[in-house]
Amino acid sequence: MDHVCTQHRFYGESMPFGNDSYKSADTLGYLTSTQALADFAILITSLKQNLSVPDAPVVVFGGSYGGMLASWFRLKYPHVAMGAVASSAPILQFDDITPWSSFYDAVSQDFKSESLNCFNVIKSVWDVMNARGSNATGLLELSKTFRACKTVQYVASLSDWMWTAFTYTAMTDYPTPADFLENLPAYPVKEMCKIIDAFPAGADVVDKAFAAASLYYNYSGDQKCFKVEGGDDPHGLNGWGWQACTEMIMPMNVSSESMFPPSGFSYEERSEGCFDSYGVRPRDHWITTEYGGTKIYQVLKRFGSNIIFSNGMRDPWSRGGVLRNISLSIVALVTEEGAHHLDFRAATKEDPDWVVEQRRQEVEIIKGWIDQYNQDIAERSP
Ligand SMILES: *[C@@H]1O[C@H](CO)[C@@H](O)[C@H](O)[C@H]1NC(C)=O
Ligand SMILES: *[C@@H]1O[C@H](CO)[C@@H](O)[C@H](O)[C@H]1NC(C)=O
Ligand SMILES: *[C@@H]1O[C@H](CO)[C@@H](O)[C@H](O)[C@H]1NC(C)=O
Ligand SMILES: *[C@@H]1O[C@H](CO)[C@@H](O)[C@H](O)[C@H]1NC(C)=O
Ligand SMILES: *[C@@H]1O[C@H](CO)[C@@H](O)[C@H](O)[C@H]1NC(C)=O
Ligand SMILES: *[C@@H]1O[C@H](CO)[C@@H](O)[C@H](O)[C@H]1NC(C)=O
Repeated sequence: MDHVCTQHRFYGESMPFGNDSYKSADTLGYLTSTQALADFAILITSLKQNLSVPDAPVVVFGGSYGGMLASWFRLKYPHVAMGAVASSAPILQFDDITPWSSFYDAVSQDFKSESLNCFNVIKSVWDVMNARGSNATGLLELSKTFRACKTVQYVASLSDWMWTAFTYTAMTDYPTPADFLENLPAYPVKEMCKIIDAFPAGADVVDKAFAAASLYYNYSGDQKCFKVEGGDDPHGLNGWGWQACTEMIMPMNVSSESMFPPSGFSYEERSEGCFDSYGVRPRDHWITTEYGGTKIYQVLKRFGSNIIFSNGMRDPWSRGGVLRNISLSIVALVTEEGAHHLDFRAATKEDPDWVVEQRRQEVEIIKGWIDQYNQDIAERSP
């Protein structure tokens, strides 16, 4: 056996109840982070046994939600994994630990840092769209402007489509061309802003913002029209809807300083929405009860070891991450640039020095853990 691939339960092909897995809360109830961590613990233990390597050092890696799982795994199962690398893991995006507006403030900052005009155009587009889409004639016109495959029914769908483009582009503002969520050029936020800035000043803001958003959906140039409404689930995020309605309650709101229309977050609204969709209500504070997060710098200062939290500050998720060193062996590696788990992407010749250095540091730290671990194992009394 030279390759083992694990999959989180209820994602991809790992459906515990086959086609019925998503049928009801009775089956979906088994989709929890705690159960997923237990799956990994059983898998790793079984693998070590089958390979006859009971003392082999195991380091767990994960990015994004997977990064949260990696860090939590190290804290819950120290006897199974001796280290964890958690890339872009927003484990502090719960309760009131991180200001609720920081995510969209960070997205906005990415655009503002490229050009103030770009930020202002995007900031102004939402009201213009809402006004135009307030009647059927206006919606028809807007649908044409957006090259929608079908005339949209709600102006909110157009706003969501645009919102997704700007937010996901900020998340994936990689320094090299990449095809993570969508195929994009290097530094796609800069490219979007170039598109906006190239319009004559008096041009229509909707045209400008649409052209920028198109980069996200159509950089490959292969889209004949855009599925603005009733799109499918291109990234297999179906299970996340359930998780966001049970334990993954990451409160986010939108401040008036951002480039998005201001809005609040309400636990009650989330609860109602979840009840309507799944017949369940969230456990609002379960994650911090189960895994911690509150006052993490104090709590983990003298508990736990061997975790790397890596982040790139262009990624809006970085704001809910661990950005300062907690102890000698629970460390934060932060780059000023860098987007969502950039360090875990395959190395390319064009990679800038700072990401090469981040990866080098990670390897060096992991080697140190393994040396220490092997020493400890060798020294241990029977
Ligand atoms: C599950 O659904 C897939 C796709 O619709 C289908 O091909 C398959 O036969 C189904 N499996 C069972 C056990 O019903
Ligand atoms: C270990 O071996 C047992 C018995 O062959 C098998 O059932 C199990 O799936 C194996 N575990 C892994 C992780 O491959
Ligand atoms: C639709 O809204 C636009 C913009 O607000 C307005 O100019 C137009 O007269 C409205 N058309 C109808 C049929 O109400
Ligand atoms: C996508 O890009 C191609 C190439 O630039 C263009 O011909 C096409 O019209 C675009 N699709 C949409 C829906 O805008
Ligand atoms: C967003 O949340 C913060 C708490 O983090 C709160 O102080 C602020 O008033 C909220 N803003 C909006 C627009 O709801
Ligand atoms: C954390 O400590 C490491 C050295 O172990 C250092 O390279 C890194 O810059 C520190 N991180 C922060 C965010 O200060």
